[in-house]
Amino acid sequence: MTDTRRHFPATGRSWSELQAEIRARSAKDVAWKDGRSPVFVFRNDQKTYEVGRDAFFECFSENALGRLRAFHGIGSMEKDVLDFGLDLFRAPAGAGAAFTSGGSESIFIAVKAARDAYRARTGADRGTALNIVVPITVHPAFDKAANGMDLEMRRAPLREDRRVDVEAMAELIDERTILLVGSAPCFPHGVIDPIGELSDLALAEGIWLHVDACVGGWIAPFFTRNGRPTPDFDFHFPGVRSLSADLHKFGFCPKPASTVFYRDKADLDRATFKADAWPSGSFSTATLAGTRPGGAVAGAWAVLNYLGEEGYRDAARRLAAMVDRYCAGIEAIEGLELWAQPDVSIINFGSKSLNILAVADRMVERGWLPGLTKAPRGMHAMLSMLHDGQACEDYLRDLRASVEEVRLHPEMTSKLEAVY
Ligand SMILES: Cc1ncc(COP(=O)(O)O)c(C=O)c1O
Repeated sequence: MTDTRRHFPATGRSWSELQAEIRARSAKDVAWKDGRSPVFVFRNDQKTYEVGRDAFFECFSENALGRLRAFHGIGSMEKDVLDFGLDLFRAPAGAGAAFTSGGSESIFIAVKAARDAYRARTGADRGTALNIVVPITVHPAFDKAANGMDLEMRRAPLREDRRVDVEAMAELIDERTILLVGSAPCFPHGVIDPIGELSDLALAEGIWLHVDACVGGWIAPFFTRNGRPTPDFDFHFPGVRSLSADLHKFGFCPKPASTVFYRDKADLDRATFKADAWPSGSFSTATLAGTRPGGAVAGAWAVLNYLGEEGYRDAARRLAAMVDRYCAGIEAIEGLELWAQPDVSIINFGSKSLNILAVADRMVERGWLPGLTKAPRGMHAMLSMLHDGQACEDYLRDLRASVEEVRLHPEMTSKLEAVY
C-alpha cells in the first residue's frame, strides 16, 4: 500500500508561492464560473459578489460568538439581518431568530427545539422513541438531525405535481410525532410543498411545522412581489412554527450564512444551548457552532443593504426570465420533458424515450458537472446568474447535441449515479 500521507511542512513558504499553488491546485476544478456546476455556487452579479466579499474581509477576524461582549458592530449587523428576515417572512411580534453557518445547522437546531418542546409539553423522557414526518424530498439535513437525536424519519410520498401528499403525511403521524416538515422549494424537483395544508394539519394535530426555505426563502417573496406568484410558505400560515432560509444561496451572500426563525422567542430559547458547569462560567449559543465568522455577518448585512428590495426584485426578475429560457429550451428538445414546473429556480427534467443518464454522460464529456435525480431519473440544476447568458446558450446547445447522440445510439449506457 502506498503511503499518501504528506508530512508536516518543515519550513515556511512565501505567500506568492502558496497563492500560485492554490491556483494550480484549483486549475482542474469544474468551470463553475462559466456556469458548469449545477449546484454549490450562487451568484447575482459581479458587484453584489464584490460587496459581499469586501464586507467579509472588513470583519475577517471578528468572531460572531463574541458579538454581545466584544464585537458590537457584528452584534448590531446580525440583529439587522435577522430583523430583515422576520419582516420578509411576516413573523409576528415576539418571534425569535438566529444566524447560522448553513441550512444543515439551521435545520438541526430547529429539530432540536421541536424535540425539546415536545418533551416539555408531554413530559416524555429521553428513552421515549420519537419521530418526524417529512416529504420524501426533504434535504438529508433532516436525516442528519434525526440520526443525531435518535429520531425516526417517516417519509411521505408526493402528489402528481411532486408536492408532498398531505393526506399521506397525516397517516404517518402518531402521538410520538414531534415535527412536520415542508420545503420551499424541495431540492430534487424545485417545487414548494402545500404549506397552507401542512399548516392546517399541524394546527389540527398540535404538532410543530418547520418550513425548509433554505433554497427559496430569501428570493421567492420577490418573485411574488414582481407579479410572478410563488406559493406562500411563511409565518403568514398560523401553523408554521419555524423556518430556515439560507443567505448563502439565493440571498447571494458569502458563505457560510443561513438564518432560522421561530414564531415564538420561547422556541429560540429551546434551541439555545446553555451550560455553566465548567470553571469559565456561563456559555450559551442558539447555534451548533461556537466560534462563527464575523465576516459572514458583515457580508450578509452589506449584501442585503446593497440590494434592498429593489435589487432583490431585479435579481428575481432576471432569475425568472432565465429559468423560463432553460425550460423553453429543454421542452423544445424532442424526447425531453420537465418532471415538475419550477416554482423558483431549480429545474428537473428527464425522458420517457431516451436514457437520460446516457445524455448526462455526454454532457460530462462536454465539460458539465451533471446534476441528477434518481426517482424519477432525471437531470437537475439549481440555477443562479452564473448560469445565465452564454452559459444558458452553451448548456442548451450541448444538451441538444447530447440528446441527438443518444437518439442515434440508443445502445449507449452510463455508469453515472445521482450524487449531491
Ligand atoms: C432544500 C435544502 N435544505 C437544506 C439544505 C442544506 O443547506 P447547507 O448545504 O447550507 O447545509 C439544502 C442544500 O442544498 C437544500 O437544498
